[in-house]
Amino acid sequence: MKGEEAEVVPGGVAFSGDWRACYAVNLWSRVASRVLWRVSQFEVRNEHELYAAARAPDWGKLFGVERTLRVNVTAQKSPLKSLEFATLRIKDAVCDRFRDEAGRRPDVDRARPDVRVHAFLEGSRATLYLDTSGEPLFKRGWRSGAGDAPLRENLAAGIVMLTGWRPDEPLLDPMCGAGTFLAEAAAMARARAPGAKRAFGFEKLKGFDSKVWKQVREEGGVVEKSPRLYGSDNDPKAIAAARRNLAEAGVERWVKLERADVLEREAPAPSGVLIANPPYGERMGSPEALARFYPKLGDSLKKRFPGWRCYIFTADLRLPKLIRLEPSARTPLWNGALECRLYRFDIVSGSHRK
Ligand SMILES: C[S@@+](CC[C@H](N)C(=O)[O-])C[C@H]1O[C@@H](n2cnc3c(N)ncnc32)[C@H](O)[C@@H]1O
Repeated sequence: MKGEEAEVVPGGVAFSGDWRACYAVNLWSRVASRVLWRVSQFEVRNEHELYAAARAPDWGKLFGVERTLRVNVTAQKSPLKSLEFATLRIKDAVCDRFRDEAGRRPDVDRARPDVRVHAFLEGSRATLYLDTSGEPLFKRGWRSGAGDAPLRENLAAGIVMLTGWRPDEPLLDPMCGAGTFLAEAAAMARARAPGAKRAFGFEKLKGFDSKVWKQVREEGGVVEKSPRLYGSDNDPKAIAAARRNLAEAGVERWVKLERADVLEREAPAPSGVLIANPPYGERMGSPEALARFYPKLGDSLKKRFPGWRCYIFTADLRLPKLIRLEPSARTPLWNGALECRLYRFDIVSGSHRK
């Protein structure tokens, strides 16, 4: 695969490469939300300039007029007053360009478009992209059991990666909900492509090369480890949802699930990695109830998990104080618009008590 010049940029990673690289990143990235292909970049001071610049690319070379379209606009410090109007102008520009060339305009479909055009307006700079992913990449095509407040798959995969978990270490999620961490960890260990069960936007673009796509799909991963994964939750409905999801993801045989209270369950091995995403917010537990729960969680980890690296992902920034354990790392992360932390606690018997 040729993917060159990868570079971290605000909100993502930029890289250049051929279509094979684009197909492969869509199929294999566990952490990306979308892969966008840059069509053009220009300066804009007003809606007229935006319209003219968005009409310039020969869109008909990129996708057929029979495809349905949706335009999304994101703006930061843009001189344009209305995002809605900017969206409309870009949509008109693309459609007018089609009418000029083909005598017909593509239809708009906001719910299930074939093709998505994204515009990012940052100050006076505008960039137009074609979305090669389609539905966002965290939709792996296997989740049916939702559970309460499940994490997005790409966030869960990123958290598993941040823990440095290796497939030969036991991994436990004692508040597993719909089993997202477990499914992602199992898929990593078994080298399952996260996008193996879904369709992609690039399949609807002109120039889509089904032969190359077939080759990319057949290349596959090589790691064939047998991971030891454990999940528990005190809610039987969560266990049922996790069981369904793991089965749909095709990884149920690697995960031992049971119904248990995190405050009572034993460690399944002398050492390993524990990842938990406790409930937070009014919807899943009042702040007072959680403030009573965290010290008990700290006691339980201390008592039953010496030798384990424990990671807790939460939006509740009171946690480290209330759990009464000293975090050895805290990584800021965003869950959508919600600021969160991934706290690491190394449990060693008799130490680290606050
Ligand atoms: C925020 S959800 C976890 C979501 C999960 N990470 C996912 O992606 O699906 C929190 C989970 O903790 C579980 N839970 C709450 N209190 C618990 C306890 N004392 N013992 C075990 N599980 C508990 C809830 O049933 C819920 O499924």
